[in-house]
Amino acid sequence: MHSTEFPPHRPIRSFVLREGRLTGAQERAFLELWPRFGVDWPPGERIDLSALFGDSRPVVLEIGFGDGESLAAMAERDPERNWLGIEVHRPGVGHLLLLIERLGLGNLKVIRHDAVEVLTQGIAPGALDGVQLFFPDPWPKRRHHKRRILSAELIALLARAIRPGGTFHAATDWPPYAAQMLETLDGASDLFENSAGPGQYAPRPDARPLTKFERRGERLGHPVHDLIYRRR
Ligand SMILES: C[S@@+](CC[C@H](N)C(=O)[O-])C[C@H]1O[C@@H](n2cnc3c(N)ncnc32)[C@H](O)[C@@H]1O
Repeated sequence: MHSTEFPPHRPIRSFVLREGRLTGAQERAFLELWPRFGVDWPPGERIDLSALFGDSRPVVLEIGFGDGESLAAMAERDPERNWLGIEVHRPGVGHLLLLIERLGLGNLKVIRHDAVEVLTQGIAPGALDGVQLFFPDPWPKRRHHKRRILSAELIALLARAIRPGGTFHAATDWPPYAAQMLETLDGASDLFENSAGPGQYAPRPDARPLTKFERRGERLGHPVHDLIYRRR
């Protein structure tokens, strides 16, 4: 990892980069497809979403898309919206670039960066129709809880970035994290309304495809919780 891409000034991050090798196809994707579907975001700069997508359709941002299979499926099914995926893991980004090419998706772009920084610096207030966060790293050890991405800080960023009436959708297969998400989000009821009612998890929406980590969780017998909130 290039140190200038992730300067060490934000001490606690929600990820630890374990790079893993790129396949030959993923190497090619970075060379040939990144210029078409990737976004070179200079940190600190506001992203002009209409210019990026070439139209002013509503934009949904996904934090930590993993291998991108579920994000690509959602973008393919919903061409009336534009989709912006953020992920730090290079093989996952390469995998999604290949999918975008294979499916011929014109409404999906990829940023390889810390999503917290992109939300903080790159997104204008009220610019997003929705944000989704599926199966974020649960950081189960108590001493690692501070790395969990869903925090009061993130909720403040989401509240700024999502338009009134827009949606925040999270899902996790780690029950203690689900409980923390519910408590933190319900605690911000001045900003977000729980679509299922206070204290309730949402029924799994049909629109959310099974993700890679969800499948893994299912094999391990983990129950899945969805949380869907509307920005007031
Ligand atoms: C447990 S995986 C889940 C991936 C995918 N959503 C799924 O359900 O299969 C969490 C992903 O979030 C990414 N991630 C964690 N923190 C991030 C951040 N701050 N910005 C961007 N990606 C992040 C990790 O690299 C990892 O791929």
